[in-house]
Amino acid sequence: MRKKFKVAAFLAGALLLNSAYAVAEENFWLWAVNFSRQKGVKPVTDKQYQDECGGCHFAYQPGLLPAKSWEVLLTAEALRKHFGANAELDNDTLKVIHDYAVDNAADKSWYKRSRKIAVATAEGPAPLRITELRYISRKHHDIPEKMIKGNKGVKSLSFCDKCHTQSAKGVYDADTVNIPNYPDWDD
Ligand code: HEC
Ligand code: HEC
Repeated sequence: MRKKFKVAAFLAGALLLNSAYAVAEENFWLWAVNFSRQKGVKPVTDKQYQDECGGCHFAYQPGLLPAKSWEVLLTAEALRKHFGANAELDNDTLKVIHDYAVDNAADKSWYKRSRKIAVATAEGPAPLRITELRYISRKHHDIPEKMIKGNKGVKSLSFCDKCHTQSAKGVYDADTVNIPNYPDWDD
């Protein structure tokens, strides 16, 4: 190789390496920023999901259950017998909602609580309720029944939004809880 040529090749190589490094570094910071933000569960972003699944109860974020659960819950037949209610949808709407839930399920999400749910449900049958998840039931173990079922302002642990004031944002931290009729629940 002629000397001039060698220098050019070296420079080109150095440039390539440098830009690859810059991209990696930029990705790292993007990742770090997102990772630190993604503490809870990804909020619902699909309007159809929000409207159709938020009519009878709070629209549960898909990231609260693994994809295998949404596959069982979101079929035409299952929705006709949805926890004792008829939550039937037309086929087009069902497809949108099914795909949205599966694509954003706990095992497809990097949000911290979804990761925990995904790991805890990786083995075994598909859970059909969020309240059935050990991760969730453990967190609520110490709340007396009179504050849940016996509480007119709550009625069921399934109604997350009654106590979790920021649940619509996917935030479930203990310091954002307010149990209706029990303002001093954590004393
Ligand atoms: C016609 C009313 C109705 C509609 C519409 C509806 N649901 Fe429900 N859903 C219920 C009832 C009733 C329960 C049981 C609540 C309880 O046990 O206290 C329930 C429970 C659930 C649960 C289990 C909650 C738990 O206890 O952990 C999930 C998950 C769920 N619904 C998802 C959906 C999704 C997704 C949609 C939209 C396709 C939807 N629901 C639409 C009535 C409805
Ligand atoms: C009766 C009120 C009530 C309802 C309804 C309720 N929660 Fe909670 N939740 C609490 C309280 C109180 C705590 C904090 C317990 C503690 O002090 O550690 C909590 C804790 C949690 C935590 C852990 C928070 C943390 O900081 O570690 C998660 C996650 C959570 N709830 C999710 C849910 C979901 C999802 C639902 C609905 C399926 C739900 N909760 C329904 C009262 C409620």
